[in-house]
Amino acid sequence: MNETMMFEKVFRDPIHHDIQVEHPIILELINSKEFQRLRRIKQLGTTSLIFHTAEHSRFGHSLGVYEITRQILNFFTRQYPKDLLGDYGWDDTERLVTLCAALLHDVGHGPYSHTFESIFKTNHELLTIDIITNEETEINQILKKVSSTFPFEVASVIQKNYPNQQVVQLISSQIDADRMDYLLRDAYFTGTEYGTFDLSRILRVIRPHKDGITFNASGMHAVEDYIVSRYQMYMQVYFHPVSRGMEVILDKLLKRAKELYLIRPNYFEKSSPLMVPFLKNNFNLEDYLDLDDGVLTTSFHMWSKSYDPVLSDLAKRFLNRKPFKSVAYTDETKKELDLMRELIEQQGYNTDYYTAEQSSFDLPYDFYKPSKENNKTQIELIQPDGSLIELSRTSDLVASLAGENKGDQRFYFPSEMLAIKSDTYTLFEDDMETFNNMIQNGAIKKTKEVNTHDN
Ligand code: NI
Repeated sequence: MNETMMFEKVFRDPIHHDIQVEHPIILELINSKEFQRLRRIKQLGTTSLIFHTAEHSRFGHSLGVYEITRQILNFFTRQYPKDLLGDYGWDDTERLVTLCAALLHDVGHGPYSHTFESIFKTNHELLTIDIITNEETEINQILKKVSSTFPFEVASVIQKNYPNQQVVQLISSQIDADRMDYLLRDAYFTGTEYGTFDLSRILRVIRPHKDGITFNASGMHAVEDYIVSRYQMYMQVYFHPVSRGMEVILDKLLKRAKELYLIRPNYFEKSSPLMVPFLKNNFNLEDYLDLDDGVLTTSFHMWSKSYDPVLSDLAKRFLNRKPFKSVAYTDETKKELDLMRELIEQQGYNTDYYTAEQSSFDLPYDFYKPSKENNKTQIELIQPDGSLIELSRTSDLVASLAGENKGDQRFYFPSEMLAIKSDTYTLFEDDMETFNNMIQNGAIKKTKEVNTHDN
């Protein structure tokens, strides 16, 4: 115990100033090769192509989640000890398992996770569990120094079936250490002001409860502010249409590579050997841990010189940041998309690779949606008489945001289509009406000239 108390190492951080590592096991986990790999994976993937300073890594975010959790546990230990409060208090013997789960919650993430997972059918949550429990990893060896069952305890926190729900909800709930860190960190590194909220206030009103985590009613405005910030980050940053336009290119590029591999495996074994286990859909954990942003970027460089014009063109578009453009469509205007695809095909593009329908509803979705059936994840305030009230029932602001599906559906196509000129019309981005008029008047069909232009 004394040895643990004396141990301290500090990581400097722009969000939390000092991240204090107070246990040797935590430092060993940070120094493991599986955790160091997170330095080489950008937290926001293609969003960094829109917000140019958003180059922060999953490594920094993971340390940040650890630090927020550590601060909460210090506060709980001082204010709400189990010795005094029984089931309503915090049991500090849970500290190490909670901190390990906080630190490792994203360790299974790979490069450009969302797109990579949809093409290659990987799953970062299952991979996180595998990295923690697989005897081949350094992380597993380190956790086993605590006890032989400790890796499984850490894994069960992340899988949300750990018996102590206070521990689970600190890492995973509507207002947990993970979300608090990424909102603040992503707001800071994108340079936007939307995601900021009063973390220090939230860390004073959070408290343990019998089956989880609640907030003092006096802290309602701080919690409300967090929900509004989250909403704004989704609308302004995470659902950014141009970032999605780059994701569409990445999606089509990986899809093309996967299809070509079936015909020309030798080309990929030579040009991008670390991608081969995924292209042939036969990978193990070691193959997965070899991946990072750099491996993908290098593969794209190689593919940009490929014999295949589609693979080469899509790789160049990704490397040189030439996003597909988009128009928003509704259920009524969706019928026009067939015509748009026809026009795009007339210009010589294969619409399987050069058009996409993409809905922000398909992106990882995290607005606040309280529901009676799923009351473990709703935010509850504890009132002076000790009763709990769900946040949207007491905050009009949150009520107006909660439960609604907000987002859009967009049709993506090559930006060169915007430069197709006619006597009467120029097509502008985001202008479905113009596009429809052009189609009805045959304006596009008359046009032969295609100018490429920069975005
Ligand atoms: Ni996270």
